[in-house]
Amino acid sequence: MMRYPLLRAVLLLALFPLLHGCDRVNEPGGLPGNAASSETPSAVIESDELKGLKLYLGYCFVCHGQKGDGRGPYAASLSARVADFTDRTYFNARTDDELYDFISKGGIAHGKSVHMKPFGFQLLPDQIRSTVAYIRVLNRHESLDGPEGAGFSGEEIYRNSCVMCHGKEGAGDGRVAKMLNLKMRPFTPETLDSYSGAKLYNIVENGYPSDSTGVRSYMPAWGSTLSEQEIIDVIALIRSFGK
Ligand code: HEC
Ligand code: HEC
Repeated sequence: MMRYPLLRAVLLLALFPLLHGCDRVNEPGGLPGNAASSETPSAVIESDELKGLKLYLGYCFVCHGQKGDGRGPYAASLSARVADFTDRTYFNARTDDELYDFISKGGIAHGKSVHMKPFGFQLLPDQIRSTVAYIRVLNRHESLDGPEGAGFSGEEIYRNSCVMCHGKEGAGDGRVAKMLNLKMRPFTPETLDSYSGAKLYNIVENGYPSDSTGVRSYMPAWGSTLSEQEIIDVIALIRSFGK
């Protein structure tokens, strides 16, 4: 299974110093040995890219889209064309610092669209850097998943990828749902219990058919972002709402 090649690479790079027993090879007089022993694998897994993914889903995906192609659910209602992060020619010519500056100060400061807000008021410098790292992942046309067997829990997935529309308790009152003025059916035991596991799995994996109109067209397809186990776990979580 080559689902997670990038994450593996990130993990391997991050683990390299651990495997080699010294964390601060360049530090004069630094002691090789257990310098890195306090570093836990979970700290390693929170790479910049992964932090960026979470922030991206919360703040950017609504316009830029899950794959970064500029076709997020909110994009169609904007007068401006949303930047397409999958455009390699354009983004290869932009440095990380330039992207950072754009995200921090926004479109107007750069003579571009007002719809691209300055995120410097909302996000910390480190967080902006993480979104830049994740834009690079999208630009390489990769998707970033949790490592097999150590993926995100149902709660984490819901918090990162669903809550902005479906709301904390599944009532359909998330921030993005409000922004898009979506009237969403709440997750209730009555509705969800009437669905088979396969049906729910299919909705989460694929969203609704691309020709669906109205509110349903806003449900993204998660098949390329979440692993099978993660989809199963998040479904178990939403089935528990209201019980
Ligand atoms: C409300 C919609 C909206 C949201 C939300 C949004 N963007 Fe944008 N973004 C745009 C639009 C529109 C453009 C195109 C601006 C232009 O070219 O005039 C853009 C352009 C960009 C660019 C391209 C800069 C360039 O060099 O041309 C970057 C990078 C970017 N956005 C990052 C982000 C990040 C990171 C987030 C989340 C933290 C985000 N955007 C959230 C609408 C949005
Ligand atoms: C951009 C907003 C958005 C995000 C993010 C989102 N959804 Fe949805 N989802 C919707 C909309 C809109 C519907 C259709 C609601 C309706 O029919 O009233 C929907 C429907 C569903 C349904 C079917 C519910 C029903 O009553 O038929 C399930 C299950 C679901 N989503 C799961 C998820 C999961 C799990 C996640 C996170 C991994 C997620 N959604 C993320 C917008 C979103």
